Amino acid sequence: MCGIIGCISRENCYEKLLSSLARLEYRGYDSAGVCLLSDSGTLRVRKKKGYVSNLAGKPIPGGAGIGHTRWATHGKPSDENAHPHLCGKFALVHNGIIENYAALKEELLVQGDVFLSETDSEVIVHLLSHAYRGDFLGALREVCARLCGSYALAVLCADYPGQIAAARRGSPLVAGAAKGALYVCSDVPALCGEAEFLCPVEDGEFVLLSDAVRVFDGQGRQIERSFTRVKSEQRAASVAEGTFMQAEIAQVPRALRDTLEGLEGTDFAPCARALRGAKRIWCAACGTAYHAALSFADVLAEKGVCDVFCTTSSEFRYKTPLIGAEDVFVAVSQSGETADTLEAARLAKSRGAFLIGITNVADSSLSRLVHFNIAMRAGPEIAVAATKSYNAQLLCLFYLAAQLVFFKKGSFPLWKGELRLLPERAEECFGTFGQMSALAAKLISAKGMFFLGRNADFPTALEGALKVREIACLFAEGYPAGELKHGSLALVEEGFPVFALSTREALFAKTENALAEVRARGAYTILLSQSEQALSQSCAHCKVLLPKICAPLYPVLSVLPLQYFACRLSLLRGMDPDKPRNLAKSVTVE
Ligand code: M6R
Repeated sequence: MCGIIGCISRENCYEKLLSSLARLEYRGYDSAGVCLLSDSGTLRVRKKKGYVSNLAGKPIPGGAGIGHTRWATHGKPSDENAHPHLCGKFALVHNGIIENYAALKEELLVQGDVFLSETDSEVIVHLLSHAYRGDFLGALREVCARLCGSYALAVLCADYPGQIAAARRGSPLVAGAAKGALYVCSDVPALCGEAEFLCPVEDGEFVLLSDAVRVFDGQGRQIERSFTRVKSEQRAASVAEGTFMQAEIAQVPRALRDTLEGLEGTDFAPCARALRGAKRIWCAACGTAYHAALSFADVLAEKGVCDVFCTTSSEFRYKTPLIGAEDVFVAVSQSGETADTLEAARLAKSRGAFLIGITNVADSSLSRLVHFNIAMRAGPEIAVAATKSYNAQLLCLFYLAAQLVFFKKGSFPLWKGELRLLPERAEECFGTFGQMSALAAKLISAKGMFFLGRNADFPTALEGALKVREIACLFAEGYPAGELKHGSLALVEEGFPVFALSTREALFAKTENALAEVRARGAYTILLSQSEQALSQSCAHCKVLLPKICAPLYPVLSVLPLQYFACRLSLLRGMDPDKPRNLAKSVTVE
């Protein structure tokens, strides 16, 4: 998704902007640009389709600058559509979507304005130019009041050298301070390499960077806002060699250890009343986080403590769910900035539900919105594909499920004691990676593949398929093992790869039947199970032995070989698993 940065610095402002943009790269983008404002009031722009590195060149002078990484929504990736956009005395960068831009543009065209891009964002800078009567922040407030949709904006005005105005509604924004420099930025991880102190900016607020960071409400009244020191775990990661995704898979055991330590130190008392009295539990998330939510629903359904409804955030928002004040709503999001998940949580809050968030980014929008936040502590995740955050999300959700069972029934489920074994067992899973690497080499030319799993193995099948689609750009689908013959079996032909996950003893035979059916139609079959017996009796061509843990916890482990497989397949197919085509790490628009 688009990322914005604004920087005030007497020294090396251009270099600081470029290094901040490089830290925003992981969000996914297709073009980038900067604009610097000199002390004499000259705006100078450099913007290009493609990588941030395309902006390198002779430093642009100026003590205030804004920058942008663009993920195209309105208009194709091109130099013209790249931000910043300029009009009159203003330069602007924008993250978000302006839903009423067509009507606003129409109005501006009638007045004779000429547009240089196809973007929705360019209308904002034109409106600013019209609204300006000498008051920089006042003009920004006036324009924002006319915008429908979402935005995080950073703006330069030629009359105000050394200043940046910013605004936020529905898209993330944080302010930061370092020795000799002040910042506004789209996200905390990207800012942490630059800033020493952070200050959140809430929806509807405005920021003015000059000699200090000042925050204002919609009426122009200054708000007191304190800064917190950047914590070491908030600092963005780097890898010496290989890809971030490989490094992040290798970090799963450590992430699980850190997550568990954090959970054990968390006081759940503030949510005891809500959990004890919960009539229904709702859980909403997107993508990988949604698959973790499905496993949460499975583990809770098994304990039969109350009704659990799990849905993707984008569906939840528009399904008029029967959620109310006796319910608990759990929102799961690595970034804590996913637009649909935030909106789903806001909807649940407006209905009076008690909100629990599970996020990996401290001070994210979600962590500030919820009544009770559970920090994942998986460490920064830079690769677009979620890996260690998924394992950590599952651990948090299972821990939360155990708390819920305790508050409802007075005792913890038996498997809670085995959570502490997960980091070690995750390490043991690395023993499967040689086999997965060989499989990736064998399947390099496959046209697509299926992942099957019943019950608790089904979300893992979905996640394995998502990883392959996302980073190896191959058609892949996850199915409940019993569902294939209701249509999708038609796609199976000679050599078509079918993975099956089988970790539930009561269902070994059923999953084996599904494998036998696809093998009989020529499929190349791969079975993953912890049971030596299930593997030895299987007809599968390739058998992968998983480490042992008690049954409900398998989703945390059985996904690891699939994450690694997808990563190897991506690399062998000549792709960059860290930056998959068309995708963004943090999906901050609906
Ligand atoms: O930051 P979030 O957990 O809210 O992100 C949700 C999805 O966009 C994310 O999990 C996405 O599906 C991953 N890139 C998949 O690997």
